[in-house]
Amino acid sequence: TGRPHALTFPAPAPAPAVDVAALRTEPDYRAALNREFTNVTAENAMKWESVEPQRGVHTWADADAVVDNARRHGQQVRGHNLVWHNQLPAWLTEGVQNGTIGAAELRRILRDHITTEVRRYKGRIRAWDVVNEVIDEDGTLRKSIWLTQLGPGYIADAFRWARQADPRAKLYVNDYNLEWNSPKIEATLALIKDLRSQGVPVDGIGFQGHLGIQYDYPGDWANVMRRFADLGLEVAVTELDVRMVLPVTPEKLATQAAYYGRALTGCLSVPACKEFTVWGFTDRHSWVPGWFDGEGAACLLDESLTPKPAYTTLLTST
Ligand code: XIL
Repeated sequence: TGRPHALTFPAPAPAPAVDVAALRTEPDYRAALNREFTNVTAENAMKWESVEPQRGVHTWADADAVVDNARRHGQQVRGHNLVWHNQLPAWLTEGVQNGTIGAAELRRILRDHITTEVRRYKGRIRAWDVVNEVIDEDGTLRKSIWLTQLGPGYIADAFRWARQADPRAKLYVNDYNLEWNSPKIEATLALIKDLRSQGVPVDGIGFQGHLGIQYDYPGDWANVMRRFADLGLEVAVTELDVRMVLPVTPEKLATQAAYYGRALTGCLSVPACKEFTVWGFTDRHSWVPGWFDGEGAACLLDESLTPKPAYTTLLTST
């Protein structure tokens, strides 16, 4: 009867990653997005391969669609992401591989990319994932083209360029496998401490939070959030989803609901936790089946946009 419950919370309210094709072509998807959420991020539309598929040719239509839709519906926007080793344009990776783009030029290319994209959305992005997944599983810096071509200073440079382009946006390090004790946690804490001691403008740490119910819930997560908050950082859950080995059963949905609920309760228990983003909000459009063989059903709403137990749990987790 009447309007379905919307996910309305004291901050941080759940916010989803948006699939632009669905936003354009599926009125029910768009309606659910705009009814339920007050904060959004682009699942792919702001990544480098999306915004500069050919060198010097910028294609902003998809990213603009997310930002414009958000503006019309009073939604805040998270920017994802500026520097990553994946979803780079082919011209860039090929140019580095075949030696036609050397280190000095690559550094200019990175500076221009960050400056251009951050400036374009200046004042409309609350927080940017400036560097994504820069620490490896063993706790060393990831051997991306950025590290191997530019050396470790590229991280400080990226933050400084982003700050210059939009001084008010919060600037984040974003990564996965930070939710439970792992070498990445210590390495990421050390990296951020070091950056801040040099005056590099790092404001926050993003926990991706790609969970699965076949693994134990990372019970340390809120404590880890506090360790980062103790450095004076903002904290955000940036890509939460809770996948399961298919088929779906009522028991698995109940476990999934508990995982979502614990994640939100954990975030709300840490005053520095400012955003709670889910990586897709409907099983109709989720990266999980394409990336994890035999797994799926990771989102809050099912394929037909019917709320799952996890949705109801989030409504009652505050
Ligand atoms: C994923 C998208 O969901 C997919 O559509 C795309 O094909 C690959 O990237 N960590 C991240 C996200 O930071 O950008 C990734 O998104 C998921 C893992």
